[in-house]
Amino acid sequence: MAFDQRFLDELAARNDIVDVVGSYVGLQPRGSEYWGCCPFHSEKTPSFHVRPDQQMYYCFGCKKGGGVIGFIMEIENLSYPDAVRFLARRANIPVPEEERSDGTTRLRSRLLALNRDAARFFYTQLHSPEGAAAMDYLRQRRITKRNATNFGLGAAADGWDRLLNAMQEKGYTLAELLASGLVVKNPSGRAYDKFRNRLMFPIVDVRGDVLGFGGRIIDKNDKGAKYMNTPETVVYSKRRVLYGLNLAKKSKREGILLVEGNIDVVMLHQAGFDNACASMGTALTQEQLHLLSRYTKDLILCYDNDEAGKAATQKALTLLGNTDFRVRVLELPKRLVDGQYVKQDADDFIKFQGADAFENLLSGSESGMDFRMAQLAARFDLGDDQGRIGYAAAAAALLASVPSAVEREVYTVRAAETAGISAEALKLEVRRAMSQKAKKEWREQEKRDLRPVAAAQPRERSMRYENMRSALAEEGLLRLLTLDDAIFGTEMPLAESDFSSPLLGRFFTALWQQRCNGGIRIAALDGQFSADELGHLAGVLQKPESSDHAAREKALRDYLAIIRGETAKQGEDPLITAMRKRRRYQSDKDGGSTDGN
Ligand code: UTP
Ligand code: MN
Repeated sequence: MAFDQRFLDELAARNDIVDVVGSYVGLQPRGSEYWGCCPFHSEKTPSFHVRPDQQMYYCFGCKKGGGVIGFIMEIENLSYPDAVRFLARRANIPVPEEERSDGTTRLRSRLLALNRDAARFFYTQLHSPEGAAAMDYLRQRRITKRNATNFGLGAAADGWDRLLNAMQEKGYTLAELLASGLVVKNPSGRAYDKFRNRLMFPIVDVRGDVLGFGGRIIDKNDKGAKYMNTPETVVYSKRRVLYGLNLAKKSKREGILLVEGNIDVVMLHQAGFDNACASMGTALTQEQLHLLSRYTKDLILCYDNDEAGKAATQKALTLLGNTDFRVRVLELPKRLVDGQYVKQDADDFIKFQGADAFENLLSGSESGMDFRMAQLAARFDLGDDQGRIGYAAAAAALLASVPSAVEREVYTVRAAETAGISAEALKLEVRRAMSQKAKKEWREQEKRDLRPVAAAQPRERSMRYENMRSALAEEGLLRLLTLDDAIFGTEMPLAESDFSSPLLGRFFTALWQQRCNGGIRIAALDGQFSADELGHLAGVLQKPESSDHAAREKALRDYLAIIRGETAKQGEDPLITAMRKRRRYQSDKDGGSTDGN
């Protein structure tokens, strides 16, 4: 553990979960709990609640849950130590000198330092004779020196070990260089620079840390991938960053402009559109939306005007569908070259049509719904009755998913015009589609409710229960311990190894230790368990449990009997156990039940 337990206790005590969560989510008191709409998934009726007694939150909808530190990690998109520092700042308490025993914390800070030094190295290379080819390339792409510096662009010059040697000289170990993804090994074990003869784009997060790099080929004859990016590392996860957001977040412009590529971002900033950032060629993720939501409610999608770009736009719109972002789509026109229309990206557009033309496009960009309706209309032949019927049905299905009644009305009328049918007829279709959709959702919910065993399985595979019967009793034991530890004796009733679920066993031991050391404080478990694990505990503790003392004593006896019974079964003939395991393996392999026993 990186932080001292006394400090963590103090931190938890000074950051009441209701206060902390309440500053992000509108909470209503209900009984001894607080309820609100979950900040981690979109919903209209609250299924998110906070329990002051447990100092935990839990969402019955998306099943996220945990303590105050986990909440901050999730909502502020911070690592565990950063979330701790965040809360310490909030409560105005000093963070004690961190222990150096936590490997990942230390590796993280080493890799951040290494990336920063590497970015400096690439920058220096760009401005030295070795960087001449990259500098030429910048000129060719019309990127100014000033803007290149703004983005910290650099050059990985031609050669196999320039960075490797420079960084080893600075004291970084080979293991650190490999962990950063900047150096790779060939099959015979020889280490060499991953990025060679490339224009380098440091990927900087919103706090200013260099998390990784993108590198573009500069030589037309280079057979490698056009772009190479840092692989997933301890500090870099492509799902969680947007290229250029570190600058875009400071823009005075309205909203944030999302584009596909690195150079698009660089060129847009240069042309004055300094609110641009890119998901670097991959689909927009939930994590990226989360990050964006800290800075804006307005997004403008400006992906390439080709099939891949359109598909990416559709995908992003679906993801954005039920969020409260306001979305517009900026469609880049194709360009006529030698009698043929070719796609252009934002960079091409700025280069050929200029910044003013882009500004015009921006002010006229359509709402996401316009884009989707137009895409839909293009799929049908509206000159034909069958085509119009098909279009009306598809439009009704799309319109049924529009939450705002006013917006629905506006687009229904418009779609009816497109299809050449009466607005009344289409409205009827929309209403029918809405009730079908509601019914379907209801049936799905019912199905989920009717599969209690599957529902009881933790979401994370690593936490899956091997023995469901025992695990459910183990869950009960945890609830009883946190609700009413007076029903337990002074000895731990079971050894940790008696638990069929290692995770539940670890929780029980940790809580038992707390009990012996002055009392159970669930919030203080944060340092010992991952956010996913704590989320699972939160879910376990929300399940109903016997309410009075006598009933709890009986429940305790029952749970213990079940667990001991199941443990005894495990002690049976090893051959039988092996066969049981094999059966389970077989059914997993056949794609059969994951319900355990
Ligand atoms: P594009 O292929 O659209 O390239 O990829 P681009 O941005 O127009 O590149 P330029 O203008 O030729 O330099 C869009 C983005 O997808 C990622 C990069 O981040 C790129 O900017 N990408 C692309 C990769 O990661 N790997 C690739 O091989 C290609
Ligand atoms: Mn391009």
